[in-house]
Amino acid sequence: MADKKAQLIIEGAAPVELPILTGTVGPDVIDVRSLTSTGRFTFDPGFMSTASCESKITYIDGDNGILLHRGYPIEQLAEKSDYLETCYLLLNGELPTAEQKAQFVSTVKNHTMVHEQLKTFFNGFRRDAHPMAVMCGVVGALSAFYHDSLDINNPQHREISAVRLVAKMPTLAAMVYKYSMGQPMMYPRNDLTYAENFLHMMFNTPCEIKPISPILAKAMDRIFILHADHEQNASTSTVRLAGSSGANPFACIAAGIAALWGPAHGGANEAVLTMLDEIGDVSNIDTFIAKAKDKNDPFKLMGFGHRVYKNRDPRATVMKQTCDEVLNELGIKNDPQLELAMRLEEIALTDPYFIERSLYPNVDFYSGIILKAIGIPTSMFTVIFALARTVGWISHWKEMLSSPYKIGRPRQLYTGYDSRDVNKLEDRK
Ligand code: SDX
Repeated sequence: MADKKAQLIIEGAAPVELPILTGTVGPDVIDVRSLTSTGRFTFDPGFMSTASCESKITYIDGDNGILLHRGYPIEQLAEKSDYLETCYLLLNGELPTAEQKAQFVSTVKNHTMVHEQLKTFFNGFRRDAHPMAVMCGVVGALSAFYHDSLDINNPQHREISAVRLVAKMPTLAAMVYKYSMGQPMMYPRNDLTYAENFLHMMFNTPCEIKPISPILAKAMDRIFILHADHEQNASTSTVRLAGSSGANPFACIAAGIAALWGPAHGGANEAVLTMLDEIGDVSNIDTFIAKAKDKNDPFKLMGFGHRVYKNRDPRATVMKQTCDEVLNELGIKNDPQLELAMRLEEIALTDPYFIERSLYPNVDFYSGIILKAIGIPTSMFTVIFALARTVGWISHWKEMLSSPYKIGRPRQLYTGYDSRDVNKLEDRK
């Protein structure tokens, strides 16, 4: 942290000196914590210019399309690592040694089952409930089963809660899917990898246990890596805010799932496929591009644009490569939705509206096409995102609780009525 300073000149008041803090990389920040002494607040709806915390977990260089997890580029993790290694990295700060990895994998494997009574929670939902609604419910309900380890000030409790969440999310996600299908829920198996186990629980039944395709398992693991963490996005900020009140980790993750559900955030992957279906044919692309540009039309090009990336989202690039690999290895030629998506990207990226606003495909643009090729229904796409992002959420939760923190409580610019008296009902006009 450097000792540079900013000076705030307020008419009729003494200048205010504000420290400028410098990180390892990325923009400096102006420390405005002392601003309350002037009786004023900063005003920044949507946190467009606000750093909410200090973190060592993930760094995004939006101008150059760079994403680092504990310093490692996402492209290298996607190519050379796997999801559980990435989980270990995000949670502990370093890539595991072979021994540490074996231990971590074994610990996760031994926590993949959920309490048998949790199954009854599902019966309260309609079979056609949106899977994200069910995920919010059952993940929040986990806190009802772990009274032995909910002391957030106990590092061991934080550790076991983190492992339980990483381990159980695939099991819960698959249970959500099976419930929607009216099929028996499948137990996890300890002889399978994390991604294989998830696909086993999703697509096998007690009547037939088919071997898991290594191609699909690798693609699934890659998708998990690409969604693992992403700085202080809306859902991660929600988890931090919930955690700052001392709420238990399962309730915090349920809050993160709720925030992720929105189509402007993690819900975009489902919305991209719905949009591609709506566009239907390349001949309709220009109409939808015009709608996306029309200020009077709420339609936005789903899977395009990003608050931080003003260049290509590096995850979208890896996702597109994975898409090509998976479709090719599955022998799916000329997938109509992929063709449509590629043409849409091509047209949008030559349009001044998108160029001027630096609107590029984000992580959600191609992910749905792979998930669909794997056999996952569109309504489950955001559940997959939540499954993969849980490690990021809980890593930020752990980081926040591991050093002094305060409850998050923003102020406001109040523009409502000043004080006034209640008048009698008969006197109100
Ligand atoms: C994720 O934060 C994260 O890191 C999120 C995420 C993660 O890993 O956690 O990366 C995951 O949420 C990815 C984003 C998924 N959402 C979508 O694909 C939905 C479509 N995208 C937009 O809703 C939008 O781009 C956002 C929400 C992603 C970003 O919105 P911002 O930063 O608030 O930007 P903005 O809405 O102010 O847009 C700036 C301009 C506006 O036009 P002008 O007012 O300047 O004329 O660009 C326009 C917007 O209207 N714009 C779009 C657009 N996205 C922005 N116009 C058409 N289509 C779009 N997709």
